Amino acid sequence: MRTTLKIVLPLIVSVAAVSLLFAAYQVRTEKRNLRNELSRRAEIQGESLQESVEPLLERGPEKNLQRLVERFGQREHLKGAAVYDASGTTLAITTGLPGVFRSRPTAATRAAQADAGVGEFLSGDQVVTGNEIERVPIHIYALPLHRDGSVVGTVALLHDTSYIDEQVSRTLRDSLVNALVQTLLITGLALILVRWTFTGPLTRTAKWLRTLRTGQANAPAAISNREILDEINHEVTHLARDLNTARAIAEEEARLRDSNASLWTAERLRVSLRNKLQDKPLFVVSNREPYMHVFNEKDQSINVIIPASGVVTALEPVLLACNGTWVANGSGNADREVVDANDRLRVPPDHPSYTLRRVWLSDEEDKGYYEGFSNEGLWPLCHIAHTRPIFRPEDWLQYQKINRRFANAVLQEMEGTESPILLAQDYHFALLPRMVKEARPDARVAIFWHIPWPNAEVFGICPWQRELVDGLLGADLIGFHIQTHCNNFLETVDRALEAITEWDRFAVSRQGHITRVRPYPISVAFPENSHAINETRNSGEERAALCAELGVEASLFGVGVDRVDYTKGILERFRAIERFLELNPVYQQRFTFVQIGAPSRTDIERYRIFLEEVSAEVVRINARFQTARWKPIVFLKKHHSHEEISRYYRAASFCMVTSLHDGMNLVAKEFVASRGDERGALILSTFAGAAHELTDALLVNPYDVSQMAERIHQALEMPEGEQEVRMERMRRNVREHNVYRWAAHLLSDLTEIRIETPERVEVP
Ligand code: F6P
Repeated sequence: MRTTLKIVLPLIVSVAAVSLLFAAYQVRTEKRNLRNELSRRAEIQGESLQESVEPLLERGPEKNLQRLVERFGQREHLKGAAVYDASGTTLAITTGLPGVFRSRPTAATRAAQADAGVGEFLSGDQVVTGNEIERVPIHIYALPLHRDGSVVGTVALLHDTSYIDEQVSRTLRDSLVNALVQTLLITGLALILVRWTFTGPLTRTAKWLRTLRTGQANAPAAISNREILDEINHEVTHLARDLNTARAIAEEEARLRDSNASLWTAERLRVSLRNKLQDKPLFVVSNREPYMHVFNEKDQSINVIIPASGVVTALEPVLLACNGTWVANGSGNADREVVDANDRLRVPPDHPSYTLRRVWLSDEEDKGYYEGFSNEGLWPLCHIAHTRPIFRPEDWLQYQKINRRFANAVLQEMEGTESPILLAQDYHFALLPRMVKEARPDARVAIFWHIPWPNAEVFGICPWQRELVDGLLGADLIGFHIQTHCNNFLETVDRALEAITEWDRFAVSRQGHITRVRPYPISVAFPENSHAINETRNSGEERAALCAELGVEASLFGVGVDRVDYTKGILERFRAIERFLELNPVYQQRFTFVQIGAPSRTDIERYRIFLEEVSAEVVRINARFQTARWKPIVFLKKHHSHEEISRYYRAASFCMVTSLHDGMNLVAKEFVASRGDERGALILSTFAGAAHELTDALLVNPYDVSQMAERIHQALEMPEGEQEVRMERMRRNVREHNVYRWAAHLLSDLTEIRIETPERVEVP
């Protein structure tokens, strides 16, 4: 109430003041106009009296003069008239005029002296004399009388001006009433507006905050969008979310302490890294950036996209947990629009927590380094998927050049940080660890290889295997997903160059520098309250909603989520679905498989052809079985957000991950993490790293179509009890081996490495 008064009171005072000023102005104007009008009338009447009196003065008798003044006295508002001779003696005067006019009034004297008309307003008090009690305000207008060109007297016209005062009082009263009504109206309106736009929403927001504070995390926002307090609403929503997250973290921490469990959480990682890094920032370098800015084709506004990438899925929670700098390729077409002069910006856009430093590549560089050497060379080399690697010398040149550019960007970011910690990512940067280490021997450098490392014979295909292995050995620590990849790497080192491989402690010693090689199975951030998050619908309801959106009638769903990549076994998966429907016709028109496929690396011919092959295979299989309202496969050929994908995860009876070869595969873990209902089955390729941990999945050989068809049948027929047991065990595994644990182990091993030569070398 006090706030409302504070806003409204000045308004009332100002409106009242303005209205009163306006009333005063109106009254003054009215009075002036009435007086002017009277003066004009008096002049006309005076001249007419002058014209009538002058002849009578010559001819007489005085009786006629008296009659004339009596007649003038009968006109409207005219109190009367008087005629005076040159000496001021009254010659004639209207009967009933106040006695004061029997002697010549001042105005008449001045008119005689000036030989011109003189008007004057007299108040009631000025008119009263002696024992007379009439107090009539008078206007007097006097004119000189002439004979033979000389002034021989004066006439005076006397108007009663009390009607002017009455009229002015009426106007004053009306104006005051008007002012009052206006003030009341405006005040009322202001009160309503203030309540509606400010105090109402503020009170509701306060109530909402109170609800959130008392632990009702999902209480709906208090004020709708588009209201004047939108931005506050937006910020408060974030604040409330943060508050709830912080509370959830604190509760989880307390629960863990209580249960003596050793789960890794974002908070625990943050605290642990803060101690380990001693408040130094963490540096990360990857090709793929966590946020891409792209122009909206329709209105050229800028949208933010989170790319479909395992690296991003894994590293974002780590960067969120500890402030740092992520150096990555600025690949969005609007990326340059949002960076500062040093090509940096703070992300995530909604909740800036760390720095993203963008590095720019020309189309030619991207073609050689990314498409060519990384994805037509190293990718098929490391994945046993029977696509022949292509190694072009010009691509190799670009790969070296871009590794150098990223290394320089990293070194620039590290300036001013003593003994910095760098976590490099993936096969795009095999040369970078040595480049960084040579310039900053005091840095601790780790590289995590997100894809498989093939056996030494296969890796030997690469004409530049020596340079690649040597570049990697610049790192203090090399991480792979599984032990087999570590073994393959050590064998490759043995074959490729001069170095001492220490199999007993999994390390390589080359030119006095030691590189440790360890498995760190990557994972996802397991949502602790996944029972509650976004689960407004149960699995069946979600499936029904998705069926309606997709326009298919099915009571059972299977789901696959992949980048459309030839290593993912998508064609084999579809053939297994075809086989399953052939063998189990009872599932026709009941079961639909939804394949979410984000087109990937489409500038590379092999990927373009593969995308066409996948689309054609969907058409072929659907044509065999589909009806008007049902089809066996729905292929959603576009990038989907995490939220969109998680709806499919929750609706599905099973998720199918059938990679021909895969470093880890986080889809398998994401599916498990999203099944808070402990239902659904996972069909998982034995050639994916995830199969080493998720042993309760239905494991398959993706080259064996019949086996996969059987597993689909098994997944759909699996009793709820068995689903629950398997899912519960897989969830426990993913929960305990989450991405925070991955980062904690990797970074903890890295920070514990002793650096022997802290000499700094100048950045080239
Ligand atoms: O598996 C390697 C990897 O870098 C993943 O982390 C990621 O899912 C995928 O490749 C992304 O590929 P790109 O960045 O080329 O789209």
